[in-house]
Amino acid sequence: MRMIHGVSLLLSAAATKAIYMGLKELKSFRSPAEKSPRTRMADDSWRVPTPVQELAAAVEEPPSRYVPREQDRPSSILVAADMPEPIPVIDFGRLLDDAAEADKLYAALQSWGLVLVTNHGIEASLMDNVMKASREFFRQPLEAKQKYSNLIDGKHFQVEGYGNDRVLTQDQILDWCDRLHLRVEPEDERNLAFWPKHPESFRDVLHEYTSKTKKIRNDIFQAMARILGLEDDYFINQIGDKAHAFARFNYYPPCPRPDLVNGVRPHSDGAVLTILLVDKEVGGLQVQRDGMWYNVPSRPNTLLVNLGDSMEIMNNGIFKSPVHRVVTNAEKERISLAVFYGVDGDKMLEPAAGLLDENRPAGYRAIAIKDFVAGLHEHFSRGKRFIESLKI
Ligand code: OGA
Ligand code: NI
Repeated sequence: MRMIHGVSLLLSAAATKAIYMGLKELKSFRSPAEKSPRTRMADDSWRVPTPVQELAAAVEEPPSRYVPREQDRPSSILVAADMPEPIPVIDFGRLLDDAAEADKLYAALQSWGLVLVTNHGIEASLMDNVMKASREFFRQPLEAKQKYSNLIDGKHFQVEGYGNDRVLTQDQILDWCDRLHLRVEPEDERNLAFWPKHPESFRDVLHEYTSKTKKIRNDIFQAMARILGLEDDYFINQIGDKAHAFARFNYYPPCPRPDLVNGVRPHSDGAVLTILLVDKEVGGLQVQRDGMWYNVPSRPNTLLVNLGDSMEIMNNGIFKSPVHRVVTNAEKERISLAVFYGVDGDKMLEPAAGLLDENRPAGYRAIAIKDFVAGLHEHFSRGKRFIESLKI
């Protein structure tokens, strides 16, 4: 077993102890707080999980806190089916003036909630550079990445930065994935302190890439508004001038037991729209339909766009937000970059009035974005979907 690189320099003594216990007792990992009632109050090392990248280098089996109950494991990766019909590919350059492309968008959103987008105006070299910058960030030693940690004082979770998901409870099952999560919109609210300085190109390529994905977002919103019979600028107006967007760089280390863990657990995105750039070499994204899991193919120079729960609510469920997950790979690491486009934090989320009438009542209750975001986090940590509780 290899040593965990540099960990003891950075974590509290209690956290370090928990890590080594984890290594010794992989199957039955319990933090000291669970074992000894005397320390229950003081020891909250369970809130600070080891980055999965470090863990993956050190263990031969995933520790128990990464292994969900049997029914929630991705054992079905071995049988994930080919899609009965492929995800439509739209030519983005023609989306707004060619009815055939708009029809394809409609079919894609209706059947999968996902669409593949080509001719989107982002050069292949920029897509490569943003992935290269991400790979280089994660390749650094832990100390370098911890400068951007999502834990204040090593323990209090904040939305931006490098690390794991928020750990809310001691028995929360974790995903086999490390992230770097950065606010990209509104542009004047970016926290550059979290934007890596290494590689040197990181900030510039992310800025350039997200300026272009924003244009894609805007055009897709317009095309969707037309498809639904709403004003062209309906969605743009709804999300507001200070609409949020986050870039999430996902890093999935190889996992010795892909059948036991989730790279990302089954979920739907909370955002309005997600623009996803996936690893060219290593697959792993799967989408669920009618209870079956399907492998999502990747195509060169193509972006994957999916709807999120906020859009499902706004369009009153005409187009659903797809449930998807990521499975891990036994030999290879995988990276992806998701840009989540959301709504201004001061606004409300509700079905578009133009889509409602006596025969089509609202299917979701209105909710303030702040409450929506809080609900999303809390439900995700338990592997549940908040949108289910908003259905009328
Ligand atoms: C996500 C997600 C998919 C991927 O970050 O929400 O679903 O391919 N990622 O990494
Ligand atoms: Ni997702």
